[in-house]
Amino acid sequence: MNDIRTALRQTAIQSKEAELLLSHVLKKDHIFIKARPDFKLSRAQLLKFKSLEKRRTHNEPIAYILKSQPFYGQPFMVNRHTLIPRPETEYLVDIIKKDLTNKPSKKLIIDVGTGSGCLSITLKLQIPNATVIASDISRKALNVARKNSRSLKAEAVLVQDDLLGDELQSKIHQTLKKTFFDRIVLVANLPYLPTSYKKDMAPDVVDYEPSTALFAGSDGLMLINKLLTQISKSKLASLIKSAYLEIDPSQSKKLTKIIKKLFPSWQVRVLPDLAGRPRYLVISA
Ligand SMILES: C[S@@+](CC[C@H](N)C(=O)[O-])C[C@H]1O[C@@H](n2cnc3c(N)ncnc32)[C@H](O)[C@@H]1O
Repeated sequence: MNDIRTALRQTAIQSKEAELLLSHVLKKDHIFIKARPDFKLSRAQLLKFKSLEKRRTHNEPIAYILKSQPFYGQPFMVNRHTLIPRPETEYLVDIIKKDLTNKPSKKLIIDVGTGSGCLSITLKLQIPNATVIASDISRKALNVARKNSRSLKAEAVLVQDDLLGDELQSKIHQTLKKTFFDRIVLVANLPYLPTSYKKDMAPDVVDYEPSTALFAGSDGLMLINKLLTQISKSKLASLIKSAYLEIDPSQSKKLTKIIKKLFPSWQVRVLPDLAGRPRYLVISA
């Protein structure tokens, strides 16, 4: 019998994930899947479910199978060129939002390494009067960010560049020429994992998510370090009011030292994630 109950009973994957796949195949919500165990799948629907289920048994993340991941209550398109947005990053939005909302200032938010655009687009949705510039080295990731920006109706200027390269700098300076901003903020959830972590990571992550979105050299600091050095040498150093970085918990002390050396007068706060691990650096000029 091809009903929902049998499909769920016979599934080779976790039942919650099978429910998500069925919901996707049947184009019905979760309540329908729960409430109608007797609902009969057509042959085409059953075949579709089986083929998606098979992909999941090969460790492909559900988000890539469904081409969507919820982030801060909104559906973000994702594919194999983008990292799947993580809950830690949702908490980074909370931190930034708390600092930036209720201040009447005109804000410019620059998101380096935007991936699916989850951070920049969510910040634009949460702080609508902010201007947002988002960059990534990957053109294919930017294509996804562009689609998300359109579908979620959150305007963001997208730039392809290697960290704070010429393209991004010139886009920022063009924007600054047109509008006066009294608060310029940089946010970055760049790759920060040491390459040695790879061997212990789940196949769902290492076999599917882009390694260019995960790893950054032997200590994981290659890109964050380079970005901070670029900022310290650019005109932006005197314009940026604060920067928000997501990091690996093992890096907070080392990065604090690096920041103190590059920007002696800046203040660094290390904030914990919801599991109590030092996960975010908030730098204020
Ligand atoms: C950890 S992912 C984060 C994506 C997104 N910000 C998020 O929070 O889900 C890091 C992103 O940085 C991008 N990236 C890697 N190296 C970069 C570089 N040198 N310059 C700009 N972006 C880079 C990757 O393509 C990837 O999209």
